[in-house]
Amino acid sequence: MIFKHIDVKPMTGALGAEIFGPNLAKPVPKAEFQEIYKAWLKYNVIFFRDQKITPNQQIVFAKKWGSIHIHPFIKPHPRYPEIIEIKKRETDTHTFGSSWHTDQMFAPRPAKATMLYAKEVPDTGGDTMFSNQYLAYRALSPSIKKVLKDVKIEASGDNQRNRSVKARKDRYSGKSSMKVKAPPKGLKTTSFHPLFRTHPETRKKVLYVGNHVVGLQDFDDREAQPIIDFLREFSARPEFLCRFRWEVGSMAIWDNRCVQHYAVPDYNGKRRRMHRITIKGDVPI
Ligand code: SIN
Repeated sequence: MIFKHIDVKPMTGALGAEIFGPNLAKPVPKAEFQEIYKAWLKYNVIFFRDQKITPNQQIVFAKKWGSIHIHPFIKPHPRYPEIIEIKKRETDTHTFGSSWHTDQMFAPRPAKATMLYAKEVPDTGGDTMFSNQYLAYRALSPSIKKVLKDVKIEASGDNQRNRSVKARKDRYSGKSSMKVKAPPKGLKTTSFHPLFRTHPETRKKVLYVGNHVVGLQDFDDREAQPIIDFLREFSARPEFLCRFRWEVGSMAIWDNRCVQHYAVPDYNGKRRRMHRITIKGDVPI
């Protein structure tokens, strides 16, 4: 793929690319944005460095990717309802996002993209890891693909049933600066989606698992749990990964339809603060 308006530096053999050239504080010209978007579809997660942007500029750039999704469980930034401030203080022990997952998998229309902008970072630690779920799907054996072909995952927003992940209320209580809220009345926070979903833009198959998966439709939980555990472990094999070292002013944009991510919880006693915006997605098929 040839890029004329941006410089693209791929990160690993699996996924990820750093993009050089754009200034995201200014309106991004159409031709430049088209190339950024193409690079994003090709590399699944893209990174920018040294960006100096205000919350309003981040919101303007986010809207180029689609309409903004409001998180049902996390209280937004007090002045910018579109933004969640992911923050960890010196006294916090919980790290938001510190398990492999894809954003809002529990929603009927899970997030398409997530944009994370670094405001404060620890001197060491606090990286984010990403895993390519096209590669994970491709690496499964034909036999397991055949057995699980039409299976649907049950994804829950508060993980009450899955033995290997704590419920949301237990994950935050007392140890996190992140403020949890009750989801709006009537909003669906449990959904069934294809385990092997098809990416709506590339049309390629993806393994769709993560920490929100509590069961498999029409399976007994005792049958489902070992399959879920196997798939979750398989989905983060080292050859599917890249890892991003944050600096103040870095921005990452990942495609939740084909990428899982993991916030590495290795910086207790230090501060980290990020501005996150998610973009609405389609019903997975
Ligand atoms: C998340 O969106 O899951 C958090 C990622 C991070 O803070 O690195």
